[in-house]
Amino acid sequence: MNQKKEIVLSGIRPTGFVHLGNYFGAIRNWVNMQREFNCFYCIVDWHSLTTHPDTRELPANVIRLLSELIGSGLDPDQCVLYIQSDVPEIAELYLYLNMLAYKGELDKTTTFKDKVRQNPDNVNAGLLTYPVLQSADILIHRAVKVPVGKDQEQHIEMTRNFAERFNHRYGEIFPMPYAFNYGEDLIKIMSLDGKGKMSKSENQMNTLYLADEDDAIRKKIMRATTDSGPVVPHSPKPDYIEGLYTLLRIVSEPAVVDKFEADYNACTIRYGDLKKQLAEDMVRFITPIRQKTESIRADEKYMRMVMEQGAAKARTSAKATLQLVRDAIGLKYY
Ligand code: TRP
Repeated sequence: MNQKKEIVLSGIRPTGFVHLGNYFGAIRNWVNMQREFNCFYCIVDWHSLTTHPDTRELPANVIRLLSELIGSGLDPDQCVLYIQSDVPEIAELYLYLNMLAYKGELDKTTTFKDKVRQNPDNVNAGLLTYPVLQSADILIHRAVKVPVGKDQEQHIEMTRNFAERFNHRYGEIFPMPYAFNYGEDLIKIMSLDGKGKMSKSENQMNTLYLADEDDAIRKKIMRATTDSGPVVPHSPKPDYIEGLYTLLRIVSEPAVVDKFEADYNACTIRYGDLKKQLAEDMVRFITPIRQKTESIRADEKYMRMVMEQGAAKARTSAKATLQLVRDAIGLKYY
């Protein structure tokens, strides 16, 4: 790997199927960064334990996510793609960083407060220190660029605080990481009923998954929320219509987009036609990803090789950082 390239790290939790929101909000960004930077991408299975999932489903979820990431264009020869629990060095760094994280600041974290509200019976210490573990993910490779969405920016700011405290107390080991978006702002994918973002937890009929079969894609798009159309030329679009146009812009030819924009502005739009076109273009977009994902997942030998190779590369990098950390702290007795 080229040592001069900047180091990138990001993580994704193995909970549920990858949908278009994940793809356009994160994964496509990761794919684009592979060539330009030294990229580490981590499936964060330890983080998912904070909410007490049924761990019998974990192996299938991790394997499926790994195959979906590769099916989406991540190349295990271009980036370091690995599973968090394969790298125990992360847990050791998490321990040291915990001594630099204060209960008061962890208590105040927005994501923590949300989780406490959603699940008052499971306010465990792992949940409280979730941003510390995330910081260990980042700092273990001394990464600087962290591609994440808006909701994660507070965690990255906390990472900088922990890194700064470490450097101040023990010596300059860590560069300061920052939240990073490649190219323009990330595209926000709306749920097909126009009510909020496409997300893992909501109604499956309003979410397009990379694993969806052609007929499911068509069915979901054809029943997406619309109305009887605008009556005043050049009207603003309601959210649920804007969401469909966003999808059209992503998967359809520019000329097609222009035609439907013109129809909308002239109040001659036929949403049935728009949806039919969008459905076919979406099928053409998702099908190759789904097929590649399935054929990769069927190749158990390849999947195992990817996991082993990713773990080995991630551990080499992690061990080097951890040695610097141990030396800086002074954990050396003989
Ligand atoms: N907390 C992130 C999320 O919920 C996932 C994550 C874990 C992560 N470790 C990370 C993201 C390190 C970026 C860097 O989406």
